[in-house]
Amino acid sequence: AKRSPSKLRCPIICIMGHVDTGKTKILDNIRRTNVQDGEAGGITQQIGATFIPKESLLERTAQLNKGEWDLRVPGLLVIDTPGHESFTNLRSRGSSLCDLAILVVDIMHGLEPQTIESLNMLRSRKTPFVIALNKIDRMYDWTENTNFPTQETLSLQKDHARREFQDRYDKIVIEFAEQGLNVAKYWENPDPRTFINIIPTSAITGEGMPDILQTLVDLCQNRMNERIQYVPAVQCTVLEVKMIEGLGTSVDVILINGKLKEGQTIVVAGLEGAITTQIRALLTPQPMREMRVKGSYIHHKEIEGAQGIKIVATGLEKAVAGTSLLVLDPEDDEMELREEVLSDMKGVLARVDKSGEGVYVQASTLGSLEALLEFLKSDAVKIPVAGIAIGPVNKRDVMGASVMHERKKPEYATILAFDVPVTKEAHAMGEELNVRIFTADIIYHLFDQFTAYMEKVKA
Ligand code: GTP
Ligand code: MG
Ligand code: NA
Repeated sequence: AKRSPSKLRCPIICIMGHVDTGKTKILDNIRRTNVQDGEAGGITQQIGATFIPKESLLERTAQLNKGEWDLRVPGLLVIDTPGHESFTNLRSRGSSLCDLAILVVDIMHGLEPQTIESLNMLRSRKTPFVIALNKIDRMYDWTENTNFPTQETLSLQKDHARREFQDRYDKIVIEFAEQGLNVAKYWENPDPRTFINIIPTSAITGEGMPDILQTLVDLCQNRMNERIQYVPAVQCTVLEVKMIEGLGTSVDVILINGKLKEGQTIVVAGLEGAITTQIRALLTPQPMREMRVKGSYIHHKEIEGAQGIKIVATGLEKAVAGTSLLVLDPEDDEMELREEVLSDMKGVLARVDKSGEGVYVQASTLGSLEALLEFLKSDAVKIPVAGIAIGPVNKRDVMGASVMHERKKPEYATILAFDVPVTKEAHAMGEELNVRIFTADIIYHLFDQFTAYMEKVKA
C-alpha cells in the first residue's frame, strides 16, 4: 500500500496487564473520567477505545518537557483491555490491533499470570511496549505530588519511601529478567533498543502520567515512523455490536487506516452470513471519552484513521465483533468481499457441535462469546455447545434449547447468557418449556453458576 511520507496517523496503543493493576484507572486519570467506578464487579469485560488529542498530550506533559517537545502525531488512540483471565481473546484482539502497548504492573504485586501472558503476546507479535509500574502511591508514607513527573516526585519522597520504591523496583527487574527481558527506569535506560522502559505511575495521584504519555509518543515518532505513516487503503476492525436508542443498530470499529464516508456500502461478517449495508451515520465519542460508555456523539460526513468510530446502519443485529469491516467500492466484487469477511468467523463457528447436542450460549460480543466457549471446552467442564448467538435471549433461542428435552438430554436444555437481556416472553417460555437460563454480567459468576448446576445434575 502507498504511504504518505509526511503524514502520520494516530498511533494505536493497547493497555494490557493482570486484573486490577489499574489499566482503566490510568485512562480515567488521563481522561479525567470515572469509567472504572461504573464497571460491574470493578472489572473490565469489554474492549474500549479513547482518542487523546494532541492538545491534551501537550497539556498533560508540559511540566515534564517545559513546552519544548516536537509532537508530530495527531493524538493517541488507546484501547483498554480486560485483565481477567477469561478474556485472553480480548487481550489478543487488542494486542493484534495496536502499534504499541503499555504493560501495567502493580508495584505491590510484581509479575502476575496475565502480566506474563500479555508479555508473551506482545513478544510473539514483536509489538514494542513500555511498562507502567503502577500504584506507587500505595507505598508506606508516600508523599503525593498530584500529576508530577516521576523523577520529580521521587526526589521529593522521604528516604524510607524512596528506599521501599527501589527495593520493589529491584525485585521486579529480577522477575522480568527471569522472563528473559531487560528493563530499566526510562530516564536511566542504557540502550532503548534492548532495555524496555519502566515508568513508575499512580493512576490515583496522576504521578508519572506526563512521563507515560511522552515516552509513548517519543517511541512512536522515533522508532515507528514508517509504521504510523497514513495509508489510504481502508483497514478497519469491528470491536462491538450495539443498539443505540433512537438510532438502531450500530457497530463500534477501529479504523486504522483509510477513510470512511457516510452513505458508503460496507460488508461485515454476521452470525448468519455476511451483511452488506450502507453507512447511515458516522459517530465518534467526544475526545477523551471512552467509546464503550454511552455519551454524546459527534457526527461526521467522513472520517480518517486511526480513530474509534460508531457506525450506524440497518441490519447489523447479527454482525460479529472481532472481524474486519470492508468497503464495497463500485469496482469491487461483492461476493468476494462477503467470502473474505466470513473467514474471520470460522474459528467460532467451528466450536459448535455438529451432532446438534449441547447447551446454548449467548453473549453481548464475539469476545465474550469466545470466552464462554473456551470455558465450556476446558478439561474441567467439557460441555458441548449446540447453538450460539450474539444479542438478547428471545423466544426463538429458548425454543432452540428446548429441543434437548426431545433428544433426551434435559441437562443441556440450558442457555448461558452473558451481559445480554432476556426478553419477558423468553423468560415465560423458559418456564413453560423447562429451559434453564443462566444470566450474569460478570463472566466468572456465570461460570460458577453453571459449574454448580452441572455438579448437581451429575450427582
Ligand atoms: P481490569 O480491567 O479488571 O483488569 O482492571 P484494571 O487493570 O483496569 O484496574 P482498575 O482500573 O479497575 O483498578 C483496580 C483497582 O485498583 C481499583 O480499585 C482502583 O481504584 C485501584 N487503583 C488503580 N490504580 C491505582 C493506583 O495507582 N493507586 C492506588 N492506590 N489504587 C489504584
Ligand atoms: Mg480495566
Ligand atoms: Na479492575
